[in-house]
Amino acid sequence: QELQMNLEQIEKGGYDHFMLKEIYEQPAVIKDTYRGRLHANEGLIKMAGIEDNLQKFLNADRILIVACGTSWHAGLVAEYIFEEFSRIPVEVEYASEFRYRNPIIRENDVVIAISQSGETADTLAAIKLAKEHGAFVFGVCNVVGSSISRETHAGAYTHAGPEIGVASTKAFTTQITVLTLIALRLAQAKGTLTNSDFHRYLQELELIPEKVQQALETNDTAKAIAAIYKDAPNCLYLGRGYNFPVALEGALKLKEISYIHAEGYPAAEMKHGPIALIDEQMPVVVIAQKQEHYDKIVSNIQEIKSRSGKIIAVVTEGDTQVRALADHVIEIPRTVDALSPLLTTIPLQLLSYHIAVMRECNVDQPRNLAKSVTVE
Ligand code: AGP
Repeated sequence: QELQMNLEQIEKGGYDHFMLKEIYEQPAVIKDTYRGRLHANEGLIKMAGIEDNLQKFLNADRILIVACGTSWHAGLVAEYIFEEFSRIPVEVEYASEFRYRNPIIRENDVVIAISQSGETADTLAAIKLAKEHGAFVFGVCNVVGSSISRETHAGAYTHAGPEIGVASTKAFTTQITVLTLIALRLAQAKGTLTNSDFHRYLQELELIPEKVQQALETNDTAKAIAAIYKDAPNCLYLGRGYNFPVALEGALKLKEISYIHAEGYPAAEMKHGPIALIDEQMPVVVIAQKQEHYDKIVSNIQEIKSRSGKIIAVVTEGDTQVRALADHVIEIPRTVDALSPLLTTIPLQLLSYHIAVMRECNVDQPRNLAKSVTVE
């Protein structure tokens, strides 16, 4: 028993849980994921799976992304990035819906399947359906030799290393890293980004690991906030643009490890109904980075405040406007809008982790959940 305990401790690298270890591994594994692929100084991106199939991507009428859970959230971030950088229409589908709704799939479609485990039954079935319709299917997986990595025509691995915690963290950020590299490579090939923007994005991406490291320094702030809201019956997460999918992901993290009901919404959607939920019992996590539409998110915060909602804001370091309105702020480094999900998700992972620990939940193996849903 003693030996078993010690072995687990060693595997956890001294962290209390695999999930916390994996949250802290993100600077290193994001770097591992872009190593050999991102050559910022030369202005090059080298990914064999893309180069060998570049024409298929360039000729694609649209990109269909199929995934589940957190991987589906990574797909939503990718939709914004692909459409902004490479101007290719993107549709993101829950694999479980896609496989049963007799979808329209054309030979000129490129399907990207995102899966950490590479064994998710719904995603595998969606891939098979897409192949039956003649589409080219590209996989983004974290497990080498997994079923999905073998079933797809080509792919690119995330190099996150084994993700033990059921709640996905480093897989999410490394998936976004791979998808960003692909979108940038396609933009370069299509000329849909100016040379200077292309180079700027490469340089900014290269700086992300150290900015994630800085974002991890908000751990104590996240822990202090967790202590205040650990018994909240509900929680709302709001974001706009690139950070709308991060709001969904933040809510999923809280749900699955602390069992608190949480929902993510586009911030502007609140006035179409959900704002009726707001009262002093409702903590609202708002991702309020200094980016496009910042003034709109500030007014969303004012709407919540006037209904006495409690506001936890994830802001860009140095922010003063939101700081004056929010009950709590978590400051993270600035980056370009398109790369901000890689940073804004960090405090949300930490917040969920600490709330779950304070509620004495089984953080690494939450009730009713499996790491890979290999059954329907
Ligand atoms: C995320 O924290 C969950 N563990 C779950 O939603 C997961 O993302 C989903 O089951 C998809 O798994 P996959 O990436 O291995 O396909």
